[in-house]
Amino acid sequence: MAKGHSVYRCTECGAEHSKWAGKCDGCGAWNTLVEEAVGRTTGPARGRKGVLPASPPVRLSEIAAGRTPTRWRTGIAELDFVVGGGIVPGSLILIGGEPGIGKSTLLLQCAARLEAAGVPVLYAAGEESVEQIQLRAARLTEDAGRVQVLPEVRLDAITAQASASGTRVLIVDSIQTTYTDELEGAPGNVGQVRECAARLMRFAKETGTAVLLIGHVTRTGGIAGPKTLEHIVDTVLYFEGESSSDFRILRCVKNRFGSVDEVGIFQMTASGLTPVANPSQTFLAGRDSGISGSAVTPLLEGSRPVLVEIQALAAKSGFGTPQRVATGLDHRRLAVLLAVLERRAGLRFSDLDVFVNVTSGMRLVEPASDLAVVAALCSSLKDRAVPPDAVFLGEVGLGGEIRPVAATERRLSEAERLGFRQAFVPARGKLSTSIATIPVAHVADLARRLAA
Ligand code: TYD
Ligand code: MG
Repeated sequence: MAKGHSVYRCTECGAEHSKWAGKCDGCGAWNTLVEEAVGRTTGPARGRKGVLPASPPVRLSEIAAGRTPTRWRTGIAELDFVVGGGIVPGSLILIGGEPGIGKSTLLLQCAARLEAAGVPVLYAAGEESVEQIQLRAARLTEDAGRVQVLPEVRLDAITAQASASGTRVLIVDSIQTTYTDELEGAPGNVGQVRECAARLMRFAKETGTAVLLIGHVTRTGGIAGPKTLEHIVDTVLYFEGESSSDFRILRCVKNRFGSVDEVGIFQMTASGLTPVANPSQTFLAGRDSGISGSAVTPLLEGSRPVLVEIQALAAKSGFGTPQRVATGLDHRRLAVLLAVLERRAGLRFSDLDVFVNVTSGMRLVEPASDLAVVAALCSSLKDRAVPPDAVFLGEVGLGGEIRPVAATERRLSEAERLGFRQAFVPARGKLSTSIATIPVAHVADLARRLAA
């Protein structure tokens, strides 16, 4: 095949350049030029005569029900659940996460399960040697012996091998090490990453092979990381977790074949990842309900409520500006809640160091957990434990008012299932739950009740 040439396109204005430059001539933006391949394999067929589509158009009504995709279940319940019931043939799934979080482990387990179920898998390994992968496989409870591992980083060689060996699921570990020599850039740069992903997408669609693609992200979101690929792929999963905790959360942020925002919860053990069947119970297992600064809230993770403990510690600041350290929640959110408590409830935190921690490695993303953060802060400040059988649920507004949140009943029934007897909830909104509810209208109201 004739090698195509490359152009550099500005990601801001779309202007095309024949050479790379730091600045775009078109719009003047800096560092926006990304290499693109222009060759026979990728160039758009601009209405050329004699070019016919591979298959004629079909009416949706004429597609027999049997043609809607079947799914391959991996047997890893949490993974199947997150992708919407199994892997769809011909789909491209991106699994992003920080280095060392367990992406390779998860997909090796997935490969072992699929092979055991009779689905041929090819594991293209660009990051590690086959021996290293063998060592990982030896730790797992799954038998990964049948999985075919290909130590290869050239994309064309990977797809050629996958076609030749009748692969149904191709695992590429990782997109940052894969490259195509159609482009001049080094593996891992934006142009390479995008071009390789686009080609894998085409390969998946043309052959019906499902492609699972690993992509590293750094703490800051990372250059050339999965963010630049989200629009190309069908499904985006992020594998997250705090390094201090064994729990790992597989979160779906985009899914063309299922619902988004579902999460799967795993624990990293000495023999690989095991799904956590009852997360609320597991997360609360080590809780000491008698200490001050601890409050429990029911988060909603996708469609499932999950109870987590929030811990706060307000301590006299040694010197200089007091510290604010938030683990598992946005530090700006913490700053807002502290300011609200200070101004609206008259609680003084300004000369105290404040540490807030979400145990179990979960992240608070919804404002529904505000009330629990506030309760933990009040409790720590006054050094008084909150009632041991209480959960807290509500969004805190800038005026100190407590606002209702979505799916309150569903969250409260999970709390009740785990033995909680009372719930501090927003005063507005009618609830039909059997757990005792304590309506709170304002943060000052909450502070008063917790001190009583
Ligand atoms: P890995 O899958 O290599 O991460 P990634 O591909 O995301 O970079 O997992 C790395 C970590 O997981 C490593 O610190 C070792 C640990 N681990 C276990 O604790 N138990 C196991 O059974 C395995 C295979 C790995
Ligand atoms: Mg890896």
